[in-house]
Amino acid sequence: MAASFTSQQAYIAEFNPKDYLQRYYLEGSGIHSGEWTDFALKHLHETFTKSGVRGDTLLDVGTGPSIYHLLSACEVFDEIIVSDLLEQNHVEFQKWLKKDPDAFDWTHIIKFVCDLEGNRENYDKKAEKLRSKVKQVLKCDILKRKPFHPLVVPPVDCLLSCLCLEVVCEDMKSYCEVLKNFKDLIKPGGHLLILSGINATFYNVGEKRFSAMISSKETLEVAFKEAGYQIEKAVYTPRVDKSQKDITDYDTKYFIHARKQK
Ligand SMILES: C[S@@+](CC[C@H](N)C(=O)[O-])C[C@H]1O[C@@H](n2cnc3c(N)ncnc32)[C@H](O)[C@@H]1O
Repeated sequence: MAASFTSQQAYIAEFNPKDYLQRYYLEGSGIHSGEWTDFALKHLHETFTKSGVRGDTLLDVGTGPSIYHLLSACEVFDEIIVSDLLEQNHVEFQKWLKKDPDAFDWTHIIKFVCDLEGNRENYDKKAEKLRSKVKQVLKCDILKRKPFHPLVVPPVDCLLSCLCLEVVCEDMKSYCEVLKNFKDLIKPGGHLLILSGINATFYNVGEKRFSAMISSKETLEVAFKEAGYQIEKAVYTPRVDKSQKDITDYDTKYFIHARKQK
């Protein structure tokens, strides 16, 4: 059953980062550990190598407690800024940064990225490299006109967001507004990378059901264009493993690489 729109208060009170990581990224049983991470990590690897996206700073929004999507970026950016609405996600992310024994074990994902990069032996070095590149963990609210207010984040070369916009925005109008607001955070000619799922109405974390917003290839591309971006690449791949549709019901994975006009 679809969930009614999840308020920020509900996120603050009920999003448990440990439950999220266990349910979605645990080796073997995590819903996203495999099909989703394979899709996202292959496209990100390609984007940061063949497509030549690189620069001084990458800003990730809606990072949550996750690190998987930053593993290839750390090879080609000097600095990574991560950000999320929730303090509990910052705490969990910091645990990984500080090698806290209670931190989530991302080794299987780190090995997968090292494999993609032809460097399987060096997965300890890979983790260290990412840790050294994350320079700031910030609070943000992407529904605000200035998501980092009162902080001013100088425009970056690349803004990345995974599995976030569909669960934060109530409808396509709000999604398009968020894309427009992102433009102030990106340098002229800079890159926007959005990866997520289409046609989800919910995702579960622990016992709590969080809402998601229905989108489609057509409505997404209209939103990017209306927000003033040029789409460089758009990939839509149907979900193959439908065995855990009672936990999250998206039916297609997507990756959109867009650019802000120069
Ligand atoms: C499904 S999780 C995705 C986490 C991570 N990017 C990943 O790929 O695993 C959605 C994230 O959006 C964050 N979020 C919810 N509302 C937000 C808002 N208004 N601004 C920024 N982040 C928000 C949540 O705290 C959560 O970390």
